[in-house]
Amino acid sequence: MGAIQAIRGTRDILPEEVGYWQQIETVARQILQKAVYQEIRTPIFEQTDLFERGIGEATDVVGKEMYTFLDRGERSLTLRPEGTAGVVRSYIEQSLYAQGGVQRLWYTGPMFRYERPQAGRQRQFHQLGVEVLGARDPRADVEVINLATNILQALGLKNLELSLNSVGDSEDRENYKQALVDYLTPYQAELDPDSQERLNRNPMRILDSKDKRTQEITADAPRILDYLGTDSQRHFELVQQLLTDLDITYQINPRLVRGLDYYTHTAFEIQSQDLGAQTAVCGGGRYDKLVSELGGPDTPAVGWAIGMERLILLLQQMQAAPNPAIDFYLVSRGEKAEPQALILAEKMRSAGFTVDLDLSGSGFAKQFKRADKSGSVACLVLGDAEAENQTVKLKWMASKEQLAIAQSELLNSTDKLRQQIDALVKI
Ligand code: HAM
Repeated sequence: MGAIQAIRGTRDILPEEVGYWQQIETVARQILQKAVYQEIRTPIFEQTDLFERGIGEATDVVGKEMYTFLDRGERSLTLRPEGTAGVVRSYIEQSLYAQGGVQRLWYTGPMFRYERPQAGRQRQFHQLGVEVLGARDPRADVEVINLATNILQALGLKNLELSLNSVGDSEDRENYKQALVDYLTPYQAELDPDSQERLNRNPMRILDSKDKRTQEITADAPRILDYLGTDSQRHFELVQQLLTDLDITYQINPRLVRGLDYYTHTAFEIQSQDLGAQTAVCGGGRYDKLVSELGGPDTPAVGWAIGMERLILLLQQMQAAPNPAIDFYLVSRGEKAEPQALILAEKMRSAGFTVDLDLSGSGFAKQFKRADKSGSVACLVLGDAEAENQTVKLKWMASKEQLAIAQSELLNSTDKLRQQIDALVKI
């Protein structure tokens, strides 16, 4: 029998890559904490109904991409395809609105969509997202956009573009959809098969088609921005003004329609030209009706999610994965030395050092080779002679300088050692 393989569209995140994940989470956590966003963790599976009602049955995500199954009690459950619906379900169920004011939340975790896998598109992927619930003010839209750009910039990303649109309120959208259908109907036979099917179900998604002829046809289609009512227009203008005030550059893209049905007013994406086909690294927008549609009180909201795998593809183009520095590599050989090395490693770790204890039991030469490869700043060497008189050899890897030192003295001079190591790591 062949070895079992990971499921198509899923990936193992191996230790050599995990530094990127930690780097993103650390940077995001710092930036989000400064703006007083609190982390929330919701379940990975929910009732299927939540996504059908929340994301919309006419969307590709609900119609074609969900991992839905019956559990042993015959309940229909779905692996979450995105994070917003679960956060809103929790907000309502846990009465987070009862605390009053604005809830600022963030989350990270795996999401599942049955899509055709390719670079930057997987069936299990990860998002880092924020949701602000309870604020209608356009400053909330701009605060969340600002946080996304800050996180991406702090990670050193360049060549990013912010695309902005307004999809108005439900009345604006109904008027617009009608105008779009009226415009497209005479061309129906010329549209690609997906778009023909969308004409009645979800006409705005036709603007997203990758088909050349469909794109030619939609080039002259009516624009949503011409169908915004006064309030929607005012909101959109304020968002733009505030972005300009914050020196955040953006491009208005009236064809930007997001793949989830809950959006109202602001919709945006941050794209990178360095990503190949899957250009969106972050997507989000306002969703003022979702909380009430899912049975909660009327609560305006706005948020976004960053695709972690896509962000990591960009980081990989720029830098090697950050790896935590190892202070000491501990080499030992001999009946007395080996147990003593375990104890010394424990004491040095308690004193705050990172210590890689060689557990191989192989000869000194092999252990030294591994010490060289480990990238550690220094090596500690314990043979039976050292174990006998409670000393240890300390060898600085860069200079090859070596000295014998009593183990007690080593443990008494931890502050000095820390300074020496930090100075070497900086170089
Ligand atoms: P979304 O645009 O569907 O929005 O996904 C957000 C991001 O997740 C995308 O821009 C992309 O980077 C990443 N992503 C989506 N699908 C995949 C996939 N199959 N493989 C790899 N990465 C993927 C949402 O999910 C909304 N919940 C965002 C939001 C939060 N809107 C308001 N609040």
